[in-house]
Amino acid sequence: SGQCEYNLRSPICCIMGHVDTGKTKLLDCIRGTNVQEGEAGGITQQIGATYFPAENIRERTKELKADANLKVPGLLVIDTPGHESFTNLRSRGSGLCDIAILVVDIMHGLERQTIESLNLLKMRNTNFIIALNRVDRLYGWKVCHNASIVKAMKQQSKDVQFEFRTRLTQVITEFKEQGINTELYYKNKDMGKGTFSIVPTSAISAEGIPDLLLLLVQWTAKTMSERLTYNNIVQCTILEVKVVEGLGTTIDVILVNVVLHEGDQIVVCGMQGPIVTSIRALLTPFPMKELRVKGSYEHHKEIKASQGIKINAQGLEHAIAGTSLYIVGPDDDVEDIKEAAMED
Ligand code: GTP
Ligand code: MG
Ligand code: NA
Repeated sequence: SGQCEYNLRSPICCIMGHVDTGKTKLLDCIRGTNVQEGEAGGITQQIGATYFPAENIRERTKELKADANLKVPGLLVIDTPGHESFTNLRSRGSGLCDIAILVVDIMHGLERQTIESLNLLKMRNTNFIIALNRVDRLYGWKVCHNASIVKAMKQQSKDVQFEFRTRLTQVITEFKEQGINTELYYKNKDMGKGTFSIVPTSAISAEGIPDLLLLLVQWTAKTMSERLTYNNIVQCTILEVKVVEGLGTTIDVILVNVVLHEGDQIVVCGMQGPIVTSIRALLTPFPMKELRVKGSYEHHKEIKASQGIKINAQGLEHAIAGTSLYIVGPDDDVEDIKEAAMED
């Protein structure tokens, strides 16, 4: 979008963690949506993607009266499943992101897939923020809707504050056992130098949400300009192959870099060989809406990364989720690209 003075792509933030820690609910809380309640069994089974324009994030951090200048057009947030059977999707999600939010349930501490997610993030050297979620479950919690966590904590009784500190200390210890130093974000003078920040949150009453968003923004602005500069290396991953009424077979993709245009010739890996086709329609859900949920779409002539996109083109029926999408440029040899596509 034109107002982006630095011409950087939007960073991608992946949400990870154990099943039912509140990953999707946190996103619902920020989006003002109800995606989680529509999930079969309340379990996320696909990678999701939501685009948050910088303006919406600024609005949501107003409470903190801080400079929430994003320096990027927005933020693309990727939701991942926490259920143990979706390790491949967590791995795929973590492979796409620039930064992550690791969600931990304050009542449960570190669990199996928390540790699995942590190891994926360590492996790729990805920085992350810990959302210590469900603080509203502390016995006697007084709801302070959308308040900063500092303000909300001041409103709590001595008992609640005591239980909070006890559980927080326990979680910090559990991270330490995994070789990770953590600290409450507003006490962390060492962020980025080895100590990871914890933001207590509630996805139900939204305490700590302004803090979480502001930290994401500040962290991105401070550390990522180089990483977010546009380059010519196409990075685009197919999440899902879906039939959409009125459109036929479409693919949902995460575009990490470059610009895609309607009419671009693309190559994707297919079950019966490489598929060469051209983009008939470039669609996105509206901002603040989830790509994996059926809804109405915006049509685009071109789309700049990073974005979650639905692509319609002929012959996509046999495309394979998890593989890369390639763009055939004016100087490219289609045969080379077909070969590259089939190596996925
Ligand atoms: P998977 O994607 O299946 O791994 O789960 P998830 O981490 O996305 O958790 P989800 O958003 O599905 O939330 C699980 C349940 O916890 C739902 O019933 C939510 O309403 C509830 N929940 C999530 N966050 C909170 C919270 O902050 N407070 C309370 N009280 N309940 C929460
Ligand atoms: Mg979920
Ligand atoms: Na769930």
